[in-house]
Amino acid sequence: METIKIIGSHSNSTILLGETIKNISKYIPNNAIIITDKIVNKLYNKDLKSYKIIEIDCGEKIKTIETVSKIYEKFIEYNVDRTSYICGVGGGIVCDITGFAASTYMRGLRFGFVSTTLLSQVDASVGGKNGVNFFGYKNIIGTFNQPEFVICDFSMLKTLEKKEILNGYAEIIKCSLIADSNMLEYLKSNVSQAINLDFEIIQKLVTDSIIIKSRIVNADEKEKNERRKLNFGHTIGHAIEKHYNISHGEAISIGMVVAAQLSLRRNLISTDEFTMIKNLIQSFGLPTEFLFDKTKIIEAIAMDKKRESEDIHFVFINKIGNAVIEKIKLTDLKKEIDDLC
Ligand code: GLY
Repeated sequence: METIKIIGSHSNSTILLGETIKNISKYIPNNAIIITDKIVNKLYNKDLKSYKIIEIDCGEKIKTIETVSKIYEKFIEYNVDRTSYICGVGGGIVCDITGFAASTYMRGLRFGFVSTTLLSQVDASVGGKNGVNFFGYKNIIGTFNQPEFVICDFSMLKTLEKKEILNGYAEIIKCSLIADSNMLEYLKSNVSQAINLDFEIIQKLVTDSIIIKSRIVNADEKEKNERRKLNFGHTIGHAIEKHYNISHGEAISIGMVVAAQLSLRRNLISTDEFTMIKNLIQSFGLPTEFLFDKTKIIEAIAMDKKRESEDIHFVFINKIGNAVIEKIKLTDLKKEIDDLC
């Protein structure tokens, strides 16, 4: 088992790569409370049943303050106090909600995660961003607070639907584009093995993605600068997700292609590099084009957390494996998007 450390301002986090859910009792006390969703509870109840369980529904729609409120009610019922331990077992939604509920109840309880999806292993469960959506705006309410541990059990990925696997690959592609050209070459050479969850390939790709993310979070936990690079493709991606019924991976794939197109316009990448990015995304069965309502998308971008007054920090690619952040006027971004589509 490999471990990776994240040093947070409140607490540190240990990512346990290749650990198994069967060893969960090594990391949490007997009286810990598990927060999980219906599907994960059904699949892994044998490993969880000795703990008190709070079961929530599945899907992005339940990532709300109302769900957190129901969890607080359960905390009261279970006599949770400041000595209690909370463990989220699930994908990004469960981890984000668990981290937020644990960070805010009684001004903060100890918590950790068992991360069960590819998307949450490479992104959501790592780095200490917790939160919920509000009024359709993604993660607009939340905290920065590191989970004490994150178990990434690769064997749990075998039960995921293909669409869910592809969601994770969109974030893995993002990591390679912003930080590691060798990883991108590796991805290009192993597309079908990766999609089929070849153990060695997935282990390397998850590990490399978490190394990249943890390096960035260790440099800038609160997203004042460097961490913004992790938002490559997300400014437009999140805006698309707000208005269309489309998965996170699909939305950020489209967002990455638009951001790459804008990078090409600035001569930061060549036409060949742009085509390669598009082809790679396509080879994973992810979309590269989408007919969206530009006005709605710009409106949603204007409400993005990355906005500062009239400006937004937009992430471009300056050569493969190197992201750059540029503060641009929202009006200029609107014009550029208008010109492209
Ligand atoms: N998902 C982007 C971040 O953790 O900063």
